[in-house]
Amino acid sequence: MVQLIRGFKDILPGEVELWQHIEKTAVSLFEDFGFKELRLPILERTELFARSIGEDTDIVEKEMYTFPDRKGDLITLRPEVTASVVRSYIQHKLFAKDPIRKFYTIGPMFRRERPQKGRYRQFYQINAEVFGIDSPFIDAQLIFMLVTLFARLSVTDTQVHINSLGCPACLPKFKEALSDLLSSVSGKLCSDCIRRSKGNPLRALDCKVPSCGDAMSGAPSMLDYLCAKCSHHFEAVEDSLERFNTPFVIDRRLVRGLDYYTRTTFEIQTPFLGAQNAVAGGGRYDGLVKALGGPDTPATGFAIGFDRLAEITTLNNSDFEKNPDIFVAALGEQSISKAFEWVCDLSLKGIYAEMDFGNKSLKSQMKRADKLGAAYVLIVGEKELEKGSAALRNMTTKEQVLISTDGIVENVKEKIFHIKE
Ligand code: HAM
Repeated sequence: MVQLIRGFKDILPGEVELWQHIEKTAVSLFEDFGFKELRLPILERTELFARSIGEDTDIVEKEMYTFPDRKGDLITLRPEVTASVVRSYIQHKLFAKDPIRKFYTIGPMFRRERPQKGRYRQFYQINAEVFGIDSPFIDAQLIFMLVTLFARLSVTDTQVHINSLGCPACLPKFKEALSDLLSSVSGKLCSDCIRRSKGNPLRALDCKVPSCGDAMSGAPSMLDYLCAKCSHHFEAVEDSLERFNTPFVIDRRLVRGLDYYTRTTFEIQTPFLGAQNAVAGGGRYDGLVKALGGPDTPATGFAIGFDRLAEITTLNNSDFEKNPDIFVAALGEQSISKAFEWVCDLSLKGIYAEMDFGNKSLKSQMKRADKLGAAYVLIVGEKELEKGSAALRNMTTKEQVLISTDGIVENVKEKIFHIKE
């Protein structure tokens, strides 16, 4: 048979309920903070990602699914969505009425990385992006929103890491110092780091080759090079997190793998995913809107790795699995036909109802109801139908009562949920 592509996966019932729960919890929280949903295409022009993520990042150099379409234009399966959100903000002039906009997006991303636990070639992200606010309060608020989401999902044992990458006024000096260090240890670096050490030395800091990490153990930190404005901004992020009792660590080596970041960068890390310890990451990208042809607009945001979050959510999956409220066990053609009507009516009233269409024995139908985990079974045969009654059985207590088939949906509702209409 034809199998899945390596690094891709199916999310099946049993697991999907947890994904739905995470998604609902995130959407409800984000909307309370004023975020609106954006649904964007999965394919974009390659140039969009090359220009925003950066030509010499691992993502653009090695990991994108890029191919020519039939006319020869290069297109790419999005490896991330921030660039697309910015494109959309500019293309539709979403800044025209009010430059301050907050968006969230949920959907698949594609990176051709080596698959392993917590790392897939198609993975999902929940993103939140804010445009038009340069206040450090909003960076802290985003982090606070993330921490709140994790708490609502009972995800504990995560750690907030923060750093600052400065601005075009102070970053060049840091890059120079880093370049100097890289030149002095070049013998111990991988070929990518040697190549990047001149043009984009920051990328060497997030190189995953262990010997490069060792060689750069004495590397300087951007925090020692921040200009007064950036320093003040970073301190305000720290103060605000403290005000919201949000614990964090200052991670002087956190540079993130994308070129567009300025000032605040952050990650939420977990010890449960081995090497893939980041369950969410983000930061400011104050220069990106302008760089892609829009007005000079500050921006900040984050992406949650949905797959990773689902993996570390300690809540039991079965908590979310939806079992039928009621299974209608009908015996005989006429009862089956009536049960078919009832099941539709019950479902329309928000009661999850199932039945067996196959005219099977009561024993086999009870077995199926049990297998599905139905809370109640409504048993009806031809005789009962004539008398206008059916037996409602509580599958936990095994108690059974007769109810009238006249107004059956209301009667079931009253017995199961104690709701009288
Ligand atoms: P990123 O750090 O590349 O940032 O990805 C964000 C999160 O996506 C990671 O922390 C991780 O949880 C998840 N992730 C990344 N790659 C994989 C993979 N191969 N398999 C499974 N999960 C993965 C960004 O994408 C930025 N656009 C975030 C951002 C939004 N910055 C500002 N706004």
